[in-house]
Amino acid sequence: MTDLEAAERLSADELAALQLERLQWTLRHAYANVPCYTRKFDEAGVHPDDCRELADLAKFPFTTKEDLRQNYPFGMFAVPQAEVRRVHASSGTTGKPTVVGYTEQDLDTWATVVARSIRAAGGRPGDKVHVAYGYGLFTGGLGAHYGAEKLGCTVIPASGGMTARQVQLITDFRPEIIMVTPSYLLTLLDEFERQGVDPKTSSLRVGIFGAEPWTEQMRAEIEERCGIDAVDIYGLSEVMGPGVAQECVETKDGLHIWEDHFYPEVIDPFTEDVLPGGTEGELLFTSLTKQAMPIIRYRTRDLTRLQPGTARPAFRRMAKVTGRSDDLIILRGVNVFPTQIEEIVLRTAGLSPHFQLVRSTRGRLDHLAVRVEARHDASADDRARAANELGSGIKDGVGISVEVNIVDPDTLERSLGKMRRVVDERDKP
Ligand code: DLL
Repeated sequence: MTDLEAAERLSADELAALQLERLQWTLRHAYANVPCYTRKFDEAGVHPDDCRELADLAKFPFTTKEDLRQNYPFGMFAVPQAEVRRVHASSGTTGKPTVVGYTEQDLDTWATVVARSIRAAGGRPGDKVHVAYGYGLFTGGLGAHYGAEKLGCTVIPASGGMTARQVQLITDFRPEIIMVTPSYLLTLLDEFERQGVDPKTSSLRVGIFGAEPWTEQMRAEIEERCGIDAVDIYGLSEVMGPGVAQECVETKDGLHIWEDHFYPEVIDPFTEDVLPGGTEGELLFTSLTKQAMPIIRYRTRDLTRLQPGTARPAFRRMAKVTGRSDDLIILRGVNVFPTQIEEIVLRTAGLSPHFQLVRSTRGRLDHLAVRVEARHDASADDRARAANELGSGIKDGVGISVEVNIVDPDTLERSLGKMRRVVDERDKP
């Protein structure tokens, strides 16, 4: 552990002291410079001086995506515009995008936590890193890029898309590491196979996958087909971008949160009470060092639980995200996340990892169809067996009856970045 940063070797007491000092600074900075926080704190009857210990954070109001939308584009910034070196924005499926900003120091912090993440994933200075997260307003590409450079890696800024060329670049440039969404990695693997190249023979050693939920079953599928270590990276634009939390390659047991910069809490999304460690709920983040856009108790809508650190004992771990409250399908009263279906699809022989969930209404009842591609080598009998197995697996495991459609290989839409798992046809006549 000698090559770890000083922050990664802090004792619990040292970390807590650092967090409190940084939290007090953040609350003061936000209150003094962002009218939205001044108003929200005043309305809640709290003042930055009321934060004397970390637990006092629970007295402060939440921040939601709606707050960011209402202050579009730059209303949440706490520094003059001339000090903002870069902006990013998340596309947002409805309404205006949410815009985030970074000072020079924020960009340096971000690169530092991404560098730390790549090292935790097994990357080392001198490695070549193929970045296939999209470049642009999305934080994935540029976030990964500057972190890899900061670690001392050679970056191949491929961005998303042009899949055949990506495979060519990987074959010719021989990167050790790939950073990409897990769903786009599957698209790349298919392309490898189409070109007659076994992905196992590629130079890749480690894949750093995030920006969307993925399961242990998907990890097994990717590691087996690609012959790499597959590890999880988490983040969100409102808090920074990729590199808020990272799984360590030696344990692969959830993601260590870089708590010297991002303070996590988990709440019950309905009662809004802070939950004790180990209990699943909605993840919140408070930034501890961000200058341009401090964020207080941001409601991520991601569901997870906090556990003690392992490979980096100073920092708590978050369990792999099971889903966002936005992705939750409530079918005839039963809650279902796409990741629950993914687990069952991937353990069913004859089925590929390419699937889609189609919601519709039959009569007045909600209906869910699982459309899933057969594997190339699956016979007609295999398909029939797989359809039965998947239907009963979902009935037993999740408690809902679904329609199963096994479709031909290479017929479902492929991901080029973040995958859209759920197709909603409910409003269609
Ligand atoms: O997706 C940042 C990112 C880029 C993370 C590249 C990792 C790698 P946003 O576009 O703002 O930022 O989306 C953030 O994506 O609230 C989660 O719902 C989801 N998400 C991100 N990472 C993971 C992950 C980027 N590892 C939203 N597992 C978050 C599950 C994830 N969901």
